[in-house]
Amino acid sequence: IEDSFIQQIVSSEAFPLNFSDLESAASKVIPKAAFGYIRSGAGGEETLRINTTDFNKLSIVPRYLNDVSAADTSIELFGRTYPQPFLLSPVGMLKLAHEDAELAVVKAAASHQVPFIQSTVSSFSIEEVSKASPGSSKWFQLYWSNNENISYSMVNRAEEAGYEAIVLTVDTIMLGWREEDIRNSFSPLKEGYGKANYINDKVFLNSLPSQDDDSVIQAILTNIFHPALNWKHVEELKKRTSLPVVIKGILHPEDAKLAIEAGIDGIIVSNHGGRQMDGIVSSIEALPRIAKEVNGRIPLLLDSGIRRGSDVVKALALGADAVLLGRPYVYGLALGGQEGVEKVLTNFKQETSVSLALSGAVNIKAAKKVTLTL
Ligand code: FNR
Repeated sequence: IEDSFIQQIVSSEAFPLNFSDLESAASKVIPKAAFGYIRSGAGGEETLRINTTDFNKLSIVPRYLNDVSAADTSIELFGRTYPQPFLLSPVGMLKLAHEDAELAVVKAAASHQVPFIQSTVSSFSIEEVSKASPGSSKWFQLYWSNNENISYSMVNRAEEAGYEAIVLTVDTIMLGWREEDIRNSFSPLKEGYGKANYINDKVFLNSLPSQDDDSVIQAILTNIFHPALNWKHVEELKKRTSLPVVIKGILHPEDAKLAIEAGIDGIIVSNHGGRQMDGIVSSIEALPRIAKEVNGRIPLLLDSGIRRGSDVVKALALGADAVLLGRPYVYGLALGGQEGVEKVLTNFKQETSVSLALSGAVNIKAAKKVTLTL
């Protein structure tokens, strides 16, 4: 039944057009606990909720008579030009959504020239993903390990495999309080979904007392969280890689200031899609103060709650240079593998282009001057 349902939505015109339709279609094809893991947020999900409702509170005040016939949605990041102002967020354990996981996503991203950020806890390794889509733009997201040699080993592997930036996620020094997963007794890490980069890492393997499955999983769990993470690690990481280093998870303007002082090359304003800490500020609410602090010195990106083209306009108008998509592409993956992700990206691209033009913006620079009202 599941197969024919998937076939029907991927092949027909009925492929979900918007986020709520994508989410409800995906809920029918992803097993319950896995779907809960992907959909849910921390605590009472207030932050997950405001991630989208805070966008809805803002309204664009459009300008017309502005000849947008040759509108240009391209952006430049770290010396590369991309046709659209969005990237794909790092999402771990994509096999929960589809067996082709990152291999499908990286190829779909490449077909749209959208950079793909691969998670530390991906279902396929850095090398496998790189081989599936050589030459496309890939960044590597790092969860700093308790054993820094493992962190550096992964960074080296990403460099060797042609990844173009390191994204250090700083909001997951421990796992958030996720009630849906506790209720479902669900831990994809414990079930081995996110181990590909570890079991392909010589430094990690050499650190194990034994290489049976249980020891591997146990070691990943003890390695992955690092509550002691601090700015010294960031400075050291900057010294150890020639790639641009982007920090993901900044919400306070003071942290943005410290990031720039530490020599960081880019910032992603993010609350991890509301999955880490409930009761914290939405990304779009945090953005203007951070944009003021950064003041164009380094690229400023944003994720958490981007659902529509109008959300992209709002984020750009409040100072972002580009945005990232999380759950929307994961649901596309669940519904149709590579083709499903491509459909989500096609629709998102179209809606974004239309939204920019109908706001009166001929390019991304102009989008930053779009007027918003509360
Ligand atoms: C994530 N996110 C995430 N972030 C990260 O830095 N490393 C990771 O491994 C993961 N894993 C992960 C799994 C799942 C199932 C989800 C939904 C999210 C967070 C992700 O990068 C991004 O910040 C949010 O998903 C963006 O919010 P939206 O677009 O999902 O609202």
